[in-house]
Amino acid sequence: SPGGRLGRLALPVGVLGFLLAACTQEYEYNSLAPAGPVAEKQADLYFLTFWIATGVFVLVEGALLFALFRFRRRSTEDTPKQIHGNTRLEIIWTIIPAVLLAGVAVPTIGTIFDLSGCQDDGVEVEVVGHQWWWEVNYPELQVTTANEIHIPARQPVCITLTSEDVIHSFSVPRLAGKQDMVPGRTIELQLQANEPGVYHGECAEYCGLSHGIMLFQVVADASPDFDAWVEVQRQPAMPPAPGSELETTLQQCLACHAIQGVSEPPPGAPIKGPNLTHVGSRRTIVAGWLENNPRDLARWLRDPPRVKPGSLMPDYNLTDEQIEDLVAYLGSLQ
Ligand code: CUA
Repeated sequence: SPGGRLGRLALPVGVLGFLLAACTQEYEYNSLAPAGPVAEKQADLYFLTFWIATGVFVLVEGALLFALFRFRRRSTEDTPKQIHGNTRLEIIWTIIPAVLLAGVAVPTIGTIFDLSGCQDDGVEVEVVGHQWWWEVNYPELQVTTANEIHIPARQPVCITLTSEDVIHSFSVPRLAGKQDMVPGRTIELQLQANEPGVYHGECAEYCGLSHGIMLFQVVADASPDFDAWVEVQRQPAMPPAPGSELETTLQQCLACHAIQGVSEPPPGAPIKGPNLTHVGSRRTIVAGWLENNPRDLARWLRDPPRVKPGSLMPDYNLTDEQIEDLVAYLGSLQ
């Protein structure tokens, strides 16, 4: 019946629609929508393999279907011709896959060497993984920030990756694929953005309770904007009024967080929390999890482990007034 035929169509059409929904270019973590030369090389490799595999699939399945129909059993007496081996065919179907595999292997190995380590002396950014946030240092520029990596667009950037605790993985699919961050090791990663813009990153290696909310953003600025950003980030912060309630409240924060111009840990001391010197200028808080606005900042300060399970930052039972003061102060750290 027409109704039944329609019903039978609904499932495959639905499944196809569902699968195709994953192909939107808008997806922030889409490694098939590369936005820089490093990610482009990785995507090229993927598409090369994909099209070779597609060709093999179509030919093999086509040959299979042809054989099924052309040589199907037509009557009970129908016995096919019996064959025991065919040397020429066997040589051909050994050589063709070997050639295809070499066709994939040669560019793969070339790309592995091409992308391993940093080649150009671009901007150097040191990223340290922590449970569950990203420490970001620019050793040559004397800038320290967290969870937001500014880079100049259209310039090579060298990211050096390491971890303070467990293995994390630095992943910005549209710019540079992903790379493990291993404690005690420093691994270099090339990264470059073709255009100014915001590129989303995440931790791609399970690293404990709040692995899923260990996010970050790479902000590619036009060259003059990047220089202006660096200039601002180098400025110390304005300390709270001496003797104020805020100054007392802030002492608890300063046990783990550095604020240049207010309190800096002694050199070599372990870094326990994100540097807050210019926290007000960042797009997000809580490692890319919440937008940086007064409402979300207040929600975070009210009960950190509730927002980020396992957070090192405890619930200090701050009063509404203390939270309001902190939100205003942190927001002013532009
Ligand atoms: Cu860090 Cu997962």
